[in-house]
Amino acid sequence: MRIQAALFDLDGVIVDTAKYHYMAWKRLANELGFDFTEKDNERLKGVSRMRSLEILLEVGGLLGKFSEEEMQEMAARKNEWYVELISKMDESEILEGTVECLKAFRDLGVKIALGSASKNAMLILNNLKLTPYFDAIIDGTKVSKAKPDPEVFLLGAKELGVDPSNCVVFEDAQAGIEAAKNAGMKAVAVGSPENLTGYDKIVKGLFEVKPEEIVNL
Ligand code: BG6
Ligand code: MG
Repeated sequence: MRIQAALFDLDGVIVDTAKYHYMAWKRLANELGFDFTEKDNERLKGVSRMRSLEILLEVGGLLGKFSEEEMQEMAARKNEWYVELISKMDESEILEGTVECLKAFRDLGVKIALGSASKNAMLILNNLKLTPYFDAIIDGTKVSKAKPDPEVFLLGAKELGVDPSNCVVFEDAQAGIEAAKNAGMKAVAVGSPENLTGYDKIVKGLFEVKPEEIVNL
């Protein structure tokens, strides 16, 4: 069995938080006087909070118009709205197949880690009651370099005590797939082949994953 650890991205793989990020970013854009569409929001998937703000301001033609302090304040304001939204989440929002997938890997003796850019990952995992499934949790509070840098996944492997070559990553964002490959890990893309490239295998969602096959990827 080649694979000894499975590392999961959170947003877009375990739960669809993109809609809440979108609502909060859109509110900020509207306050700043421009519109922000769902298509624009696609560009924010897997991207850090501050980089997301830069993209948003670029869409509104306002990039470079604010001081660092104002940017921090806007990101904090968006996060307050976002936290208000995700605070209401419960187990019903776990994406199909997630629990079965986590349990099946655990039953095969595969260790499980979270590898997310989000600083809100703990709140989400706790609300979804998924925290006990993870042997290690690496989130945006623990890393300094954003995906496609491999830091988040390398830290996860280290915490699990598994060599990167024996790890598999589940990711919905292109930057995340690249981060996995940069870490020397196998990458399973979660999404559709039109938007993603460079993976070892692709699935539509965790409901399609067969852990007994993935361990020999
Ligand atoms: C990623 C999301 O998981 O986390 C991004 O895909 C988000 O959209 C990033 O910007 C940071 O999240 P947060 O919760 O720390 O603002
Ligand atoms: Mg994601």
